[in-house]
Amino acid sequence: MWFSIEKNTKVPMFRQVFEAFRGAILCGRLQSGHKLPSTRELAAELQVSRNVILEAYELLLAEGYITGRHGAGSYVAEGTYLLGYKPDISGQLKASVVPDNEIENGEDVISFRTGLPAVDLFPMKLWGSILQKVCADASTAQLGYGDSSGDPKLRSILADHLWRTRGVIAKPEQIIVTNGAVQALDLIVRGLLTAGDEVVVEEPSNVDLKIILSSTGAVLQQVPVDDLGLMTDRLPAKSSPKCIYVTPSHQFPLGGIMPIQRRIELVEYARRRDSYILEDDYDSEFRYDGAPVYSLQSLCTDRVIYIGTFSKVMFPSLRIGFMVVPEPLVQECKRLKRLTDYQTPSLDQLALARFMQEGHLNAHILRMKKLYRKRRELLIDALNKHVDEPFRICGRSAGLHLVVEFDSQLASNLNDIWREQGVIAMVISEKRLLLGYGHLSGEQIDEGIRRIGLSIKHSVGVF
Ligand SMILES: Cc1ncc(COP(=O)(O)O)c(C=O)c1O
Repeated sequence: MWFSIEKNTKVPMFRQVFEAFRGAILCGRLQSGHKLPSTRELAAELQVSRNVILEAYELLLAEGYITGRHGAGSYVAEGTYLLGYKPDISGQLKASVVPDNEIENGEDVISFRTGLPAVDLFPMKLWGSILQKVCADASTAQLGYGDSSGDPKLRSILADHLWRTRGVIAKPEQIIVTNGAVQALDLIVRGLLTAGDEVVVEEPSNVDLKIILSSTGAVLQQVPVDDLGLMTDRLPAKSSPKCIYVTPSHQFPLGGIMPIQRRIELVEYARRRDSYILEDDYDSEFRYDGAPVYSLQSLCTDRVIYIGTFSKVMFPSLRIGFMVVPEPLVQECKRLKRLTDYQTPSLDQLALARFMQEGHLNAHILRMKKLYRKRRELLIDALNKHVDEPFRICGRSAGLHLVVEFDSQLASNLNDIWREQGVIAMVISEKRLLLGYGHLSGEQIDEGIRRIGLSIKHSVGVF
């Protein structure tokens, strides 16, 4: 099924089923005469009771989206296609992870939010002095409108850096510098996807990115992930998705690293179906059991679009990311970047080029890797010390967050309880808790987990 059901939300399950079909019918993905799955089949596939499906189908029938008689099957009705309709998928994505960008740490609030590096330890004075030099040395050409794909020197340093650290095979001309990975994704979507196209996404994953992926009307096919990332044997067998969005080096949020067998299956699938793979490599520099794994792009340069960012290795407000695109897509991506904002700010790009060239980026990554390894160990120690309920840890080998999976179901109101206790963490499914730790000190980690442990003890099994 192209959608999944979120049980831990205030949106009733029948409503989620209804909205998924309503959207697909209005945008023409399910056309008149199309037979809907039987209520029994769909209930089994979505693992919900048959009543949920019956209720959803009844509402679809009542509003005229489908026709049918009890026992004779349900079919999409005539006249239900609305030209230009784009389904609002946000309601269907409650199971995904929303980065809590707006949450501020209060006085005594400890936030295990994800995606935030230790920004207080970034060498800001050094960065400031490099920026100052760059400003002093900037030519008049560098202060005017520059190359929309990014500063040529930065792209050349980046091509070399990516080859050395991630095995990415790219000429500088194939790199487009963007305002973060998010803009790279947005440009790709606008360049490649039109209404009705199919896009495979990992489930769970970052909800903002899914909304971007569906922003031009593409239909998302959510494929589950396990400890080894996207389950390639669950890729759609009958359709040909235009794009497949993956985080193979460190699945967001569950943390799996995709093994070579699945990578090969994925590449072969993309080749057979003429799909592009969007490889989001957002934080794999921080792999604790060795060097970062090689990119998927290194296996297949013509079908993979590689997306990277400096948000985690430097700081998010820098807003510099990039994409490496196969040659046939370069001109279109460059054109879209130019029409969006002409270019990413030049002085920041020039400073970044110097920062990298003088070896500061690699030195900072090494320092941070040691620190995050230590913080990860402290987090695991704190969990063992303060949490009594049986759990296992997923995705411990890389990145700035990990997932704690409990044997028992967590209470649905934990987020509210934690807020009262001055701790912020995200329950991402009935048994899973997502903890970002890169930005927290050892004391904050210990105290935060103590608060979490206490409330879990009092709430496990309470619904
Ligand atoms: C999986 C994933 N990719 C990309 C990003 C965003 O990166 P950027 O800050 O470069 O836009 C995020 C945000 O945390 C993320 O979770």
